[in-house]
Amino acid sequence: MADAPKLGFGPYTAPSQGVLVVFCDEGLEFGPATAKVLGSATGLVARAAKAERFTGKNGKSLDLIAPEGLKIDRLTVIGVGKPADLKPQDFVKFGGVAMGKMPSSASTATVFAELPDGAMTGDQAADLAQGVLLRAYAFDRYKTKRKDDDKPPAKRSVTIATGDVAAARKAFVAREAIAGGVLLARDLVNEPPNILYPDEFARRAEKLKKVGVKVEVLDVKAMTKLGMGALLGVGQGSRRDSRTVVMRWDGGKKNDAPLAFIGKGVCFDTGGISIKPGAGMEDMKGDMAGAACVVGLMHALAARKAKVNAVGVIGVVENMPDGNAQRPGDIVTSMSGQTIEIINTDAEGRLVLADVLWYTAKRFKPKFMIDLATLTGAIIVALGQEYAGMFTNNDELSHRLHLAGEAVDEKVWRMPLSPFYDKMIDSKFADMKNTGGSRWGGAITAAQFIQRFIADKTPWVHLDIAGTGMDSRSSEINKSWGSGWGVRLLDKLVADHYEK
Ligand code: BES
Ligand code: MN
Ligand code: ZN
Repeated sequence: MADAPKLGFGPYTAPSQGVLVVFCDEGLEFGPATAKVLGSATGLVARAAKAERFTGKNGKSLDLIAPEGLKIDRLTVIGVGKPADLKPQDFVKFGGVAMGKMPSSASTATVFAELPDGAMTGDQAADLAQGVLLRAYAFDRYKTKRKDDDKPPAKRSVTIATGDVAAARKAFVAREAIAGGVLLARDLVNEPPNILYPDEFARRAEKLKKVGVKVEVLDVKAMTKLGMGALLGVGQGSRRDSRTVVMRWDGGKKNDAPLAFIGKGVCFDTGGISIKPGAGMEDMKGDMAGAACVVGLMHALAARKAKVNAVGVIGVVENMPDGNAQRPGDIVTSMSGQTIEIINTDAEGRLVLADVLWYTAKRFKPKFMIDLATLTGAIIVALGQEYAGMFTNNDELSHRLHLAGEAVDEKVWRMPLSPFYDKMIDSKFADMKNTGGSRWGGAITAAQFIQRFIADKTPWVHLDIAGTGMDSRSSEINKSWGSGWGVRLLDKLVADHYEK
């Protein structure tokens, strides 16, 4: 990825070069420190605002190049709307807007963290900084050629000027850890499938040991011994062996049951023998976005030393057509003992999750399990790229995730589970089949399938992130194909409810 800008906090001092970013409200009012640094240039701002019809609305911005009377090259004014209406997420967004306004030629930017009625709090300044980090991300490690007028300076730095440097620095520690988790997840999703195959994915997860996460890797032999016939059936057509990776962060009380996060890690999904059409198949490198989110979340929790016990479990496989690949018509036995008739080898994610979820419930007896998976095209048909589909057996978790999603702008929409849909996956020859038979309710029948592998009535949530985890909508804090969706959502859920 592109080198992240060097980020620092400092007092309100007038920059003598580069970009200056300041904030105003709908009356085009500035805070006192900002007004002081702008001096007579406030008149220029008023003229430019009129010319540009800039009125200080939340998230809108105005640029002045080489403003008269100031030494800087560019002044960017960002509107905050009505300061009383601002939510924490607005400040993250403003950080993204500020970073987005930094031209590729600029090597330094100074962001004045001040509202019209005075200094932003340490938390707000740190939110700005997190937004800068999220926006600055670009996955360009495979680009070897750059036009001269497109080359960024060797070193870039962003300074957040604030009224309370110590408070901002302190608040930034956790936010930096979380951003690190998001960027890690984005990297994993963006990596090409010849580089990021299951074993390499496991090695990347093992790097979490550096932040204090315990990592175990189960190979094919270990999974065979456990009886993970559903997961292993998916990977058997690939030259690359399957893996299950278990990550543990023990930051809570010794005997507290852990929270469990489970991810679908299909490093590439050709569809298998039920092969997908060629157009757009390259996108299926992102079919491990659920697993990437779990790795990113474990990084975030460990790096910010969350006071919680958490376990992340990911099933990492490659779905390929081959002489040894599984066939439609095959019947496999899952770790739970339940048998599955394979109708369509392209409905592979649920097979992976079936064994990983069963294993996680039995081994860890977690407080809850949340799985994330780019599971169905049908969820994209239903919800597009704005909301992830949420299926759950637990109303409290549903409510908490809904609120956390609104707060960090990673939103979830609850979808139904019911015996009517469950019947659709009964099979003539086995305990169940891996598709619903018709395309109707495809995201729901997939969720019903997974529910049959939730042992011991464990509270459980399934998040279908096919529309949000990859090929994602762009926003002020995300310009990446792989979004890292879910890291901030689940970190927020943990922080709000499960840390003592
Ligand atoms: N990985 C795909 C789902 C997907 C589609 C993710 C588009 C992201 C974007 C999944 O494995 C799949 O192929 N699902 C099938 C299920 C069907 C065969 C029942 C689908 O959605 O078509
Ligand atoms: Mn598939
Ligand atoms: Zn898939």
